[in-house]
Amino acid sequence: MRAGLGTGLRARPGSGIGVGLLAVACFLACGWLPERFAVNAPIGSMLFGTLGDEIETADLAEMRVPEGFGIAVWAEGLPPTPRFLRFTEAGDLLVSAPRSGRIVLLERDADGDGASDGMRTVLDGLDRPHGVELRDGWLYVGETGAVARARFDADAGRVTGPVERIVEGLPPGGNHWTKTLRFGPDGWLYLHVGSTCNVCIEEDERRATIMRFRADGSEGAIYATGLRNSVGFDWQPGTGKLFATDNGRDLLGDDFPPCELNEIVEGGFYGWPFANGDRVPDPDFGAGQEARIAESIPPVHPFRAHNAPLGIHFVRGARVPDSYRGAALVALHGSWNRTRKDGYKVVSLHWQADGRIEERDFATGFERDEKVIGRPVDVAEGPDGAFYVSDDYAGVIWRIAWGERGGGARRLRSARIADPLAGIPEDERPRLVASGAALYREHACASCHEAESAPEGTAVKPLEGLAERYSVDSLSLLLETPPQPMPTPPISADARRELAAYLLDRHP
Ligand code: HEC
Repeated sequence: MRAGLGTGLRARPGSGIGVGLLAVACFLACGWLPERFAVNAPIGSMLFGTLGDEIETADLAEMRVPEGFGIAVWAEGLPPTPRFLRFTEAGDLLVSAPRSGRIVLLERDADGDGASDGMRTVLDGLDRPHGVELRDGWLYVGETGAVARARFDADAGRVTGPVERIVEGLPPGGNHWTKTLRFGPDGWLYLHVGSTCNVCIEEDERRATIMRFRADGSEGAIYATGLRNSVGFDWQPGTGKLFATDNGRDLLGDDFPPCELNEIVEGGFYGWPFANGDRVPDPDFGAGQEARIAESIPPVHPFRAHNAPLGIHFVRGARVPDSYRGAALVALHGSWNRTRKDGYKVVSLHWQADGRIEERDFATGFERDEKVIGRPVDVAEGPDGAFYVSDDYAGVIWRIAWGERGGGARRLRSARIADPLAGIPEDERPRLVASGAALYREHACASCHEAESAPEGTAVKPLEGLAERYSVDSLSLLLETPPQPMPTPPISADARRELAAYLLDRHP
């Protein structure tokens, strides 16, 4: 069964709302309880309210993967915003959705139609869950300020016990609020803690590091430092070496500094905030730090500037041509701080005999002539030997398989939300919009979002087409946990709704 696919290209106004409401009722009544509910309607409809007529479709035939591979959408309509991935022993796929506070489970494709058989929530009410991991019957989650875990039954695909927080008091929030976690081959639980800022001296020494803990959360220690935001990491099969991606700083122009792949060693210092790329002193924080810079470990591979590498996965299975054995796949989330867009693809890294790492395009077409249709986040390898890529822009999971044709003929639907202000009575809207406008001024949002108000040298991110992608509810969620580098406005939930109403009214 396809979740939300195959229903034809035009969504009938109001279709799927009944099922959506039922799902909402269960979602509220069931709390964290792992009640099974198959969501047959796109889960998006229950979060975003009424889906209206679709306005745009992106032709999947324009997606490109290397000859012999096929790419298709495996699941769509995920709750905001699908990020990290982990396959269970039973072959289902766990996906974190930080903005909705949930971990969802996508059922394996038992009926063989090329799509997940259904989606359900296994945990909710979490605080920005990002990393997701399984070990010895436990489901581990990296929340922004904690490591949580709960008993998980892989055969049943459900959580069977309460959530316990085995690490608390991690530095939460900040620009890079996500926490990815993963068990290493040594049995330690590794966790990344990004920086609070673009570039600064951190007050909390755990910021801009990779830490590690015992499986029960004890013996927490900083493992490596100087890592601005190492969202993705994986161990190279064979060597056991740990490699981590890292996002280079912003506001130094279109082509500098490179984003990084680092080989992480215990106690290693990787340069931030004093140096960028291969030990180039930072213009703001490099002066007087020559010794620190000299001892910093340079990247083993530079990605192009602002490409924002996130998840990395070393190919383990055999269901690939020889040239992909031992390669790593890396999701490039794509630039915002750049004149022309760059990134927005999955690349493969190939270790050469001379030690060099060659970067090749693996999946492209997420960005077409400056128009974005998707942003890759994480890559996982399924028990079927195919690769699964999460996309937090399109809200889908892509599947890339060797020897299969892929879903070229289909189109990715991006439904315009019929009335983004649905749920707010007509007569209340003017007041909401006016309060939102005041908040927008008060919090100097224009300083990053409007060219006329931006200080010299600041990169501007224009706001546009918001109603195509957000409702008041989902935009309020975004304002609660904004994408980096946007600061979190310190405002109440009501104020977030006012701001959201104003933004949707002004930038439909
Ligand atoms: C320091 C700069 C900065 C400030 C201040 C800032 N933002 Fe942002 N904001 C950004 C950037 C950069 C992005 C895009 C990030 C990305 O694409 O990954 C963004 C994204 C957004 C988005 C999502 C846009 C989309 O197309 O999905 C919204 C909405 C938004 N900001 C609203 C606001 C509001 C409201 C405020 C004031 C409370 C604000 N921003 C303050 C930098 C900023």
